[in-house]
Amino acid sequence: MYLSRDEEAVYQGERGETLARMMQILVALGDIYGAERLVTVKSVQIAGVSYKNIGPAGLEWISRLQGRVAVPSILNPAGMDLVRWREMGIDEAFAERQRAVVQAYERLGVCIDCTCTPYQIYDSLAGRGDHLAWSESSAVSYANSVIGARSNREGGPSALAAALVGKTALYGYHLDENRMPTHLIDVQADLMGSDFGALGFLAGGMVKDGVPFFRLRSAPGRDDLKALGAAMAASGSVALYYVQDATAAPPGSNNLHPQEKITLGRAEIDQVYEQHPAEGCDAVAIGCPHCSGEELERVARLIGGRKVKAKMKLWICTARKVADAHPALVAAIEESGARVFCDTCMVVSPATERFSKMLTCSGKALAYLPGLAGVKAGYCSLEDCIEAALVEERQ
Ligand code: F3S
Repeated sequence: MYLSRDEEAVYQGERGETLARMMQILVALGDIYGAERLVTVKSVQIAGVSYKNIGPAGLEWISRLQGRVAVPSILNPAGMDLVRWREMGIDEAFAERQRAVVQAYERLGVCIDCTCTPYQIYDSLAGRGDHLAWSESSAVSYANSVIGARSNREGGPSALAAALVGKTALYGYHLDENRMPTHLIDVQADLMGSDFGALGFLAGGMVKDGVPFFRLRSAPGRDDLKALGAAMAASGSVALYYVQDATAAPPGSNNLHPQEKITLGRAEIDQVYEQHPAEGCDAVAIGCPHCSGEELERVARLIGGRKVKAKMKLWICTARKVADAHPALVAAIEESGARVFCDTCMVVSPATERFSKMLTCSGKALAYLPGLAGVKAGYCSLEDCIEAALVEERQ
């Protein structure tokens, strides 16, 4: 891979050991994937934050790094609400280590908003055509597809390397040739709310790491696209998709030659609900990806002043800045006994492992809860999730 004189100096250790190691990670990846050179990134989103996932070795690795990030960089969700971790049932030992992870990133200059939806709180991190090095799969999908930016699905170390160097290797989704649709998916059903997550759950399993181009009957909103992309990134490993007239368009979009055509209808979408019934759930989890302000508003409206059942938990996950921007909604939701947790989520926190089955309206949580959190999952609409958690009839 070609390196400029400056990049070569970093690689050789002339700017310190940490930067040399980071540059070596980027060059190794570039060599593996055939990158010709590095490219400057606008921002970085770093996974590998939950202590549950990185453990002591990860904490030690991050703690030993020196220097400051070269571009705006932000964290993925941690293993707990950084303020209200006790309410989640997190123990002191985990909390101490989790705080140490976040402090280690902060010392490197990383913004410690811990969220998988950085685009909901900072417009400046990604714009159309910007090169990024983001990690969390739903955030990568949203950035590539809805915003029209360019990012590979980085691992924790490669994202941190990009943050410190300010560059990433130019391969994969940074290049037009890898952004062409591979599958055309015709959806012959009207979709609403959780149907988009169900569609993503189905489609991801079908296209794997392909680039689907959807024709939908219903116009999706931003939260619908967020849910669709997140689910496909989890049930498959889709990092880029298109929805006709709703997302950024493919390069040279007059020229679509998908290798495969798929038609999906109401029956296939309904099967996702039928195969994941609500029975036996002891918790309801909303906010995968992290809730937007509009979603908090919907949750508060659906709760409508009622109370959560004594033996049920209703957890809503969002970014701290989103919660802080909507104090009245958070108060209305929590008045029911539900909890709005920030900085974390039901999949990356060990707190959810004590539940036997969680009910969700997220196709991504449906795909990940059993494997990553060891918790069975049921799937239904947001409305039915809220109803399942509440005890009293609407006044
Ligand atoms: Fe975000 Fe956690 Fe879901 S990181 S996309 S809420 S699994």
